Amino acid sequence: MLKYSLGIIGYPLGHTLSPFMHKAVAHELGLELQYKSFEVNPKALGDFMKRFRDTSLDGINVTVPHKVAVMEFLDGLTDEAITIGAVNTIYRKDNKLIGDNTDGFGFIESLHQNARVDPSGKSIFVYGAGGAARAIVTSLAGYKAKKIVIANRTYKKAEKLAVKAKELGCVVDCISNEDSKLIGSIRAADIIVNSTSIGMEGVDEKELPGISGIGPSSLAVDIVYRPLRTKFLVKADSIGAVTLDGLWMLIHQGARSFFRWTGREFPTQLARSVLLTRLSNN
Ligand code: ATR
Repeated sequence: MLKYSLGIIGYPLGHTLSPFMHKAVAHELGLELQYKSFEVNPKALGDFMKRFRDTSLDGINVTVPHKVAVMEFLDGLTDEAITIGAVNTIYRKDNKLIGDNTDGFGFIESLHQNARVDPSGKSIFVYGAGGAARAIVTSLAGYKAKKIVIANRTYKKAEKLAVKAKELGCVVDCISNEDSKLIGSIRAADIIVNSTSIGMEGVDEKELPGISGIGPSSLAVDIVYRPLRTKFLVKADSIGAVTLDGLWMLIHQGARSFFRWTGREFPTQLARSVLLTRLSNN
């Protein structure tokens, strides 16, 4: 039987669902798969990567705070990793360590597969300008979104992200969360995305600003999946908008990573049902 040895590096690792998800899917597919968590202090990243080369690990996921720092220890990057400027998946190819980024793919795939929406030609409003937002905004720009409005608490970070999306040929506007244009910008958008940690259980459960601007024909997407129904999604739902929770992006980014490592397709519905059970037991 084929055996895969995988893992995730981050610091701290908190309660990542990736080990559980990959092991559960591999079990269903009859694959022997190990997936370990490695809490790697940023100071020890170089040492870890040196050791990784000589181990039997087939690949790893990379999470906060290593997604950018890890790039200097790799032999190659996929186009997605270059565009996003960060790596969340490392796999081996011809004895080389290759860095990929599957977050943007996971986001776009969740729109296509689970909301039946194609972002090309659409007006999109995105809360956030951090790491997750960078993957989302650059992917949306690459998918020929008509216009993206980035709203962020720290305006300067939104401006920096906008430069990247504009380079990809997209029309981009930036506002701060306090801007008087906030509600109007949301009203004008076809898709509204929360890519901040606002709404996350135990972190920041407040409401997103300006969501009264959501209309019944919008699609509201959250990257937060704990809780699954965030205040943002509950509100959007009450207005009649279509909603998409953060678990789908997690599943589709995982599916792409899994394919890089094993060449096998990932049963996404099955992954969702085991994750839902897991979340409801925690
Ligand atoms: P990740 O890699 O998960 O995206 P991050 O890079 O730390 O994490 O980004 C977090 C995002 O959530 C940022 O856009 C952050 O806003 P700032 O750029 O102003 O820090 C946003 N965010 C987090 N907590 C927030 C809060 N309480 N209010 C508004 N925005 C918040």
